Amino acid sequence: MTYSPIDWSPGGVRVLDQTLLPDEERYIDLSTIDEMVEAIRMLRVRGAPLIGVSAAMGLAAAAARAHDNGDLSPEWAIAAADTLEGSRPTAVDLRWALDRMRRKTRDAAGHGSDGSTLVDVLRDEAQRIWDIEVGMCRSIGEHAATLIQPGFTVMTHCNAGALATGALGTALAGIYVAHEKGKGIDVVANETRPLRQGARLTAWELTKAGIATRVIVDGAAGSLMAKGEIDMVITGADRIVMNGDAANKIGTYQLAVLARAHGIPFYIAAPRSTFDFRLDTGSEIPIEERSADELPTAPGAQVYNPAFDVTPAELITAIVTDDGILRPPLDEAIREFADR
Ligand code: MRU
Repeated sequence: MTYSPIDWSPGGVRVLDQTLLPDEERYIDLSTIDEMVEAIRMLRVRGAPLIGVSAAMGLAAAAARAHDNGDLSPEWAIAAADTLEGSRPTAVDLRWALDRMRRKTRDAAGHGSDGSTLVDVLRDEAQRIWDIEVGMCRSIGEHAATLIQPGFTVMTHCNAGALATGALGTALAGIYVAHEKGKGIDVVANETRPLRQGARLTAWELTKAGIATRVIVDGAAGSLMAKGEIDMVITGADRIVMNGDAANKIGTYQLAVLARAHGIPFYIAAPRSTFDFRLDTGSEIPIEERSADELPTAPGAQVYNPAFDVTPAELITAIVTDDGILRPPLDEAIREFADR
């Protein structure tokens, strides 16, 4: 990759501002908790795994700054993690990453560590979280590629690639690996209304990688399936719960219904960090509702703008994880996966 959506910078964390893509590739430096919260809320950094990585790196960078100012304490770090966790509600990777950061903070406090040790501990853990995501995405890619036959046309929704993970991606990881293996695939990327992550981001990163990509408006998905043009659908997820229900970008649910109606396999790809082993069913997943400003309409009209929906387990052919492919009955497969 010639770009990374996130990296360390001398003063903190450098992120690629994804709101500007594909028109402009601009990197911005963030060094405070407030700046990272704003970047996550505004979708400058986005995608479930990348939100977790960003929050952890942002916390580590802001802790270093707080130490320089004489403000750092374990209590400061825990409060900062709690603030970061409030930035977006649906992707559970955020909590997964911040739970790890809080655990490290408490361990350091328990050992009576000083401020500079805490800074080092938090930076090491943030880097470890990023490294773990990189490894998990590569494994997802290897497993998902086994589902992609030569010459397949693969439909995907939203953006679940490098831009969403700081690694190879989740749904797009299998596409990258299949492409590496010379399988001659092409991709149909749904536009993904209203913020157009498919048209702006998936198309940007796949074309950069030399992968044939056709963008369609979301409403065209069914007609392509009916014409027999789609061999499989694969998307990422923001939270998968114990019974196999999976929250992902709004529009994923109707895609799964369409795929079932046309006898097309519908796969979800996600790392362990996207599983919420504390929730039993999709109805418990908090669904982010975003501002009406993101959906321009006639003055006076009301807007309902949910950012995610839940695809019920029975519509999911299989879930591709970093630790293999989970097949129905998904509740049993997830229970076994949770215990590994
Ligand atoms: O609102 P976004 O752009 O953060 O939504 C992202 C998605 O829904 C992705 O499909 C999901 O996070 C999987 S990312 C690997």
